[in-house]
Amino acid sequence: MTTSILITGGAGYIGSHTLLEFLAAGYRPIVVDNFGNSSPEVLRRVEKLAGAPVRWHEGDIRDAQLLDSLFEQARRDGAPVDCVVHFAGLKAVGDSVAEPLEYYDNNVHGSIVLLKAMDRAQVKRIVFSSSATVYGEPVSLPYTESHRLAPANPYGQTKAMVETILADWCQAGAGRTAVNLRYFNPIGAHPSGTIGEAPRGRPNNLFPYITQVAVGKREKLSIFGRDYPTVDGTGVRDYLHVSDLAVGHVKAVEYAQATPGWVAFNLGTGRGTSVLELVHTFEAVTGKKVPYEFLDRRPGDLAGMWADPSAANEKLGWRATRTVEDMCRDGWCWQSGNPDGYV
Ligand SMILES: NC(=O)c1ccc[n+]([C@@H]2O[C@H](COP(=O)([O-])OP(=O)(O)OC[C@H]3O[C@@H](n4cnc5c(N)ncnc54)[C@H](O)[C@@H]3O)[C@@H](O)[C@H]2O)c1
Repeated sequence: MTTSILITGGAGYIGSHTLLEFLAAGYRPIVVDNFGNSSPEVLRRVEKLAGAPVRWHEGDIRDAQLLDSLFEQARRDGAPVDCVVHFAGLKAVGDSVAEPLEYYDNNVHGSIVLLKAMDRAQVKRIVFSSSATVYGEPVSLPYTESHRLAPANPYGQTKAMVETILADWCQAGAGRTAVNLRYFNPIGAHPSGTIGEAPRGRPNNLFPYITQVAVGKREKLSIFGRDYPTVDGTGVRDYLHVSDLAVGHVKAVEYAQATPGWVAFNLGTGRGTSVLELVHTFEAVTGKKVPYEFLDRRPGDLAGMWADPSAANEKLGWRATRTVEDMCRDGWCWQSGNPDGYV
């Protein structure tokens, strides 16, 4: 039987790269996005890259009627939704501290509305965008999936809560499947430079900040902390190419189709890169200078964290293959060709 995949938040940074991978792998994706942090232009560009039309609907996952009508429409079209890939969510840690209720409403309540609609439509599989932030202060590194969960901010709490809700949901119904993907630090862009990360306002993450400095939109990079117990005193993260991360979702859907129940996988490379290493690699690959200054550590920032991705390597048959050089080259290709993002 032909089936469809519903992608919530499919116009976002990770969602759009994943949408492209699903189209390339022959799936029938349907996107729902409220464009709160993206624009329909993203989907037009994905169509161009894929050489195929994209089915999409503007709307919010907290709109139960809309979700019912999407599931019903897919059924009437002869390709009922078999699995939901759930990206839709707010993701800025700082905003989540300032506006916790917005975050719990969008990320937790939104996921409950979605699961209820899935129940009504008898859709039993979901792949969820979780995050390495669920682990909090490391007890040991690399993080394995069994590391204790202790998120240090409301954003991380919303991810841990949805994981728990999904565990209870799976427990309560036969054949239900939830694959929780704990992303580390996705950066870079599709190698064509056609789609990429387009933060609104000041970027919350390091890499778009670097590319915006390099393209002349910002004067210099602020590096918070130079006295961490790391290779050069700056913070260490596990950066992975967004296209590798996107492929991980195709593998996760295949896994969900074969293996019922709740599971969590780290998606990372297993290698840590410091802020200065990332800046210097970017400069070497692009030939662009990135002026920077050191500021004090920020409260709540971790010195270092990276993944043990062996469970995903073995059980999903997934492995990050692209290098930090690839991430810098592709991210620069996107930023230099689209200095103002999708505008
Ligand atoms: N980017 C990262 O570093 C990172 C790391 C770990 C986890 N994640 C998670 O991965 C997911 C995707 O992240 P991203 O970087 O692509 O973010 P993004 O903001 O680019 O994409 C999220 C998309 O969801 C949409 N959206 C948000 N709330 C919605 C709602 N209520 N209804 C419908 N659409 C809604 C937004 O408009 C956007 O297009 C998020 O859940 C995020 O928390 C991201």
